Amino acid sequence: MLTNNHRISKRNSATKTTVSESDNSEEYLTPAYSARGLSEPVSKYSMSETPLEADVAAQIIKDELNLDGNPALNLASFVTTWMDKEAEELMLLTLNKNFVDAEEYPQTVEIHDRCVNILASLFNAPHEKNYTGCATVGSSEAIHLAGLALKWNWKKKRDKENLPSSNPNIVMGQNVQVCWEKFARYFEVEPRYVPLSNDRFVIGVDEALKKVDENTIGVVGILGSTYTGEYEPIEELALALDELALKGKLDIPMHIDAASGGFVAPFLQPEFKWDFRLERVVSINTSGHKYGLVYPGIGWVVWRDADCLPEELIFHVNYLGGDHPTFQLNFSRGASQVIAQYYNFLRLGKSGYRSIMTSLQKTAVWIADQISGLSEFEVVHSGKDLPVVCFKVKGDQSFTVFEISDMLKQRGWIVPAYTMAPDAEDIAVLRIVVKEGLSLDLAHILINDIKFVLEHLKTTTQKDTTDVKSIKEHSPVKTNRTGHRGVC
Ligand SMILES: Cc1ncc(COP(=O)(O)O)c(C=O)c1O
Repeated sequence: MLTNNHRISKRNSATKTTVSESDNSEEYLTPAYSARGLSEPVSKYSMSETPLEADVAAQIIKDELNLDGNPALNLASFVTTWMDKEAEELMLLTLNKNFVDAEEYPQTVEIHDRCVNILASLFNAPHEKNYTGCATVGSSEAIHLAGLALKWNWKKKRDKENLPSSNPNIVMGQNVQVCWEKFARYFEVEPRYVPLSNDRFVIGVDEALKKVDENTIGVVGILGSTYTGEYEPIEELALALDELALKGKLDIPMHIDAASGGFVAPFLQPEFKWDFRLERVVSINTSGHKYGLVYPGIGWVVWRDADCLPEELIFHVNYLGGDHPTFQLNFSRGASQVIAQYYNFLRLGKSGYRSIMTSLQKTAVWIADQISGLSEFEVVHSGKDLPVVCFKVKGDQSFTVFEISDMLKQRGWIVPAYTMAPDAEDIAVLRIVVKEGLSLDLAHILINDIKFVLEHLKTTTQKDTTDVKSIKEHSPVKTNRTGHRGVC
């Protein structure tokens, strides 16, 4: 049975035994309108011998999908839920193109290369350098590629100096997104987590410096923590690493995880130095499908200089015709997202992105102001970095953030509640990611609904404690190392 905790499909228990149809209606799809096209129930878990009419098959699936949440009210996800209809048309038009078929679709490759150039320049890559980059399925793949490049560069340097290269580590805050844990485990790099505290939910510079040594392949700075939306002190971290390099042997590169902030900071906080303006930054990832405003399935990674990307990681294939360099974890992938990204670049331009981000931030700040006006809450992040509002229940209330999240769901709002990453896990918060679908009008309705939920919970819940134990007991979510669930 698929559960929230297991996105990897498991064998359904209904398929294990053969039971008569009458006992086992759960195993079959028998829609009410079956007389119009279905003469027999259709098995859910094994493929039927006979085909269905296209409209019947589609209707069955649409019916089930009605049970999903409404993407427009999904304030949990950073991922785009609305695009122009012209973008949707372009995506439909290119759904049948495999991005990897470069020989067959050279113009798509050209468009991809333009996107990389646009991003490199947005991230202030030095023109005298030979920056390079590629599209990925999302920031996770981008991070795996960037992490691999860091590992190989470190190993090559160690090998050249005849030094051991068997114990690489990577230094990052406890608040990293789960993809960094995956990178460390999949590619056998020791993750060195910089502890958080009850009043610091991002990496600390001094604390990070204590973790680095000659085996550190890189230090990660996050432009927009998944947990709160705050930017990490990237420039301070870079300067501290510069100083370390000046003093001695440790010359450690930085990668910036700008999954969300890569499309926000250049427009809202252009003075904030986080990108290739800092010499120490060798690579940056961003998610085109977050504030890049494209539907899910696109990320980007850009390197300051082609030298930062070891040649050994690039594979050359000739079986598609011509010589094609590939650096990706997957091979085939759809071209539509790349096209849609380029559409946004053309359609919006810098001022278009700037005005969208400005309006999202205004909405976020308005929401944060309203929340801080409620005596039951304390705002943790008010939308001043990413347009994300993160808040917790103040003091000793009779209800938890988990109950608030559950009740908001009854109204259709998806507002996740979760505990912070280790070292700050006693703190449980709610988070609202402001995206294009959340207008100020809707935000008014959301605030009214939050007030209604508060009143309801105050009258129905008994006095309880909000200490760590009760937070964990109330939490419907069993947390892993990062306490990270449904936060993406
Ligand atoms: C900071 C950060 N890094 C990486 C990721 C993973 O991004 P993607 O979902 O594009 O793989 C996320 C997702 O929320 C994120 O917030």
